[in-house]
Amino acid sequence: MTVYAAYFSPTGNSRKAALAIASGISNDVKELDFTRFGAAPECSFASDDIIVIAAPVYKGRVYKGAIERFSALKGPAYCIAAVTYGNRAYDDALLELVSFMKAQDFDVVSATAVVGQHTYGNIQEGRPDSADAEALRCFGKASYESIGKGGELYVPGSYPYREGGDGGNFTPLTGDGCVSCGLCVRQCPVGAIGDDCRTIDSSVCISCFRCIRICPKSAKTMDGDDGYAAFAESFTEKLARRKENEFFMKEVR
Ligand SMILES: Cc1cc2nc3c(=O)[nH]c(=O)nc-3n(C[C@H](O)[C@H](O)[C@H](O)COP(=O)(O)O)c2cc1C
Ligand code: SF4
Ligand code: SF4
Repeated sequence: MTVYAAYFSPTGNSRKAALAIASGISNDVKELDFTRFGAAPECSFASDDIIVIAAPVYKGRVYKGAIERFSALKGPAYCIAAVTYGNRAYDDALLELVSFMKAQDFDVVSATAVVGQHTYGNIQEGRPDSADAEALRCFGKASYESIGKGGELYVPGSYPYREGGDGGNFTPLTGDGCVSCGLCVRQCPVGAIGDDCRTIDSSVCISCFRCIRICPKSAKTMDGDDGYAAFAESFTEKLARRKENEFFMKEVR
């Protein structure tokens, strides 16, 4: 049996969640990173393998591009599904990810909605934190132990799904500190940054802020965008109250 952590994760929350869950099952986890543009990992599974799959909630749904990339994953195998969300709501995203993986012929044994630091503003900074990671590790272990015990998995959400799953409308700026190292160009999930490392095609950019988080010179930024600053301030205030992670296991009803 091999345990995989498969994810789309521009700012790292979904990766953290997937690895924490998988660590409750095995010390030897194989990562399948679907975040980078045009660099989908090769994957085929044995029927007793376990795939922990994780992706962010974008506007109440799983980001569309993540679902497209996850089409490369085909069962039969076991699956644990996780969405990470920025303390607002996960709406239909968990139901969407669970239903998608079932349709790909996976036996989805459990699911979780995990709070992660929001992309925008300063909301739940540092989450998933060490306490979240420990809870996710225990959930992974319990999920593994539940395999073969029967029951059905029920998660919140409704179908038809709400509109969503696309990116935002904030395009980062590039400051004078840019040294043209090319890191952001290589790491942008959608290939929105030109070879000059400075030009961003706003019609392609999904506002995931990966470039802002990874730039070693802090040259990709939203500083100077007054519209973003005003939005971030009121959004941070609105979502200040901490939400807890939710866990779902198969049950007999
Ligand atoms: C375009 C966009 C839309 C988002 N929509 C939601 C949302 O509907 N609900 C929510 O709670 N968080 C939302 N978030 C926050 C992310 O879901 C959250 O930060 C997530 O953990 C990021 O995952 P990652 O670090 O794996 O990229 C959104 C973020 C972006 C960029
Ligand atoms: S990662 Fe930062 S320094 Fe490197 S090219 Fe991008 S903006 Fe410039
Ligand atoms: S350019 Fe846009 S899509 Fe690319 S990493 Fe930056 S915020 Fe994300």
